Amino acid sequence: MVMRVAVAASGRGSNLAALADQLDRPESPARIALVLSNRPDAPVLDLARRRGIPVHALRDCSDPTEWEEALRGAGADLVVLAGYLKKVPPETVSSWRGRMINIHPALLPRHGGPGMYGTRVHQAVLAAGEVQSGATVHLVTEEYDRGQILGQQPVPVLPGDTPETLAARVLEIEHRLLPAAVLAAARAGRAVPFRIEEAAGHSPVPSP
Ligand code: GRF
Repeated sequence: MVMRVAVAASGRGSNLAALADQLDRPESPARIALVLSNRPDAPVLDLARRRGIPVHALRDCSDPTEWEEALRGAGADLVVLAGYLKKVPPETVSSWRGRMINIHPALLPRHGGPGMYGTRVHQAVLAAGEVQSGATVHLVTEEYDRGQILGQQPVPVLPGDTPETLAARVLEIEHRLLPAAVLAAARAGRAVPFRIEEAAGHSPVPSP
């Protein structure tokens, strides 16, 4: 059975593009059934439309009924937060528990939590003198960035890095990590721990 994935995003949507590229093949075990955004003018919605993916601009992103109707209407099995910058209603988090994942641009549990998004994350990594950063995919719970970690991939922090150069290096790895997470979930039938190599299709079984 093909897993139907709903992606929620607020901005440019490069993670959506990477995911759509990876899933856009006949034998793919997952497909993107819906892109949701809290911003009607978000570039990610245009990107989705150009690819023929149904979109839904949330009229009230704090309304769990609107979320539920959009997700059920799309027949979603899995919800992916890919640069979604608003709070997901607690009722929605609860009813999708174990079936909603997020990508964060650092190695959680470090450099996550309320207010840690965008360039602030990379500023914090540099300010802490970390020698590596990376990306993390985790289950979504009511606490920001605290749900079970499903997969991570490090990248080095290099001398002379700025938040921008570090963000670009992390983003490259995000574009591989998120498809790996979704493919592993689709093969297992639920969100599971995974390794990044699974995006290439070499590992049909989820890692323990
Ligand atoms: C990514 O760095 C993601 O980890 C973060 O927001 C950014 C979204 O980028 N939460 P994009 O919209 O997918 O290009």
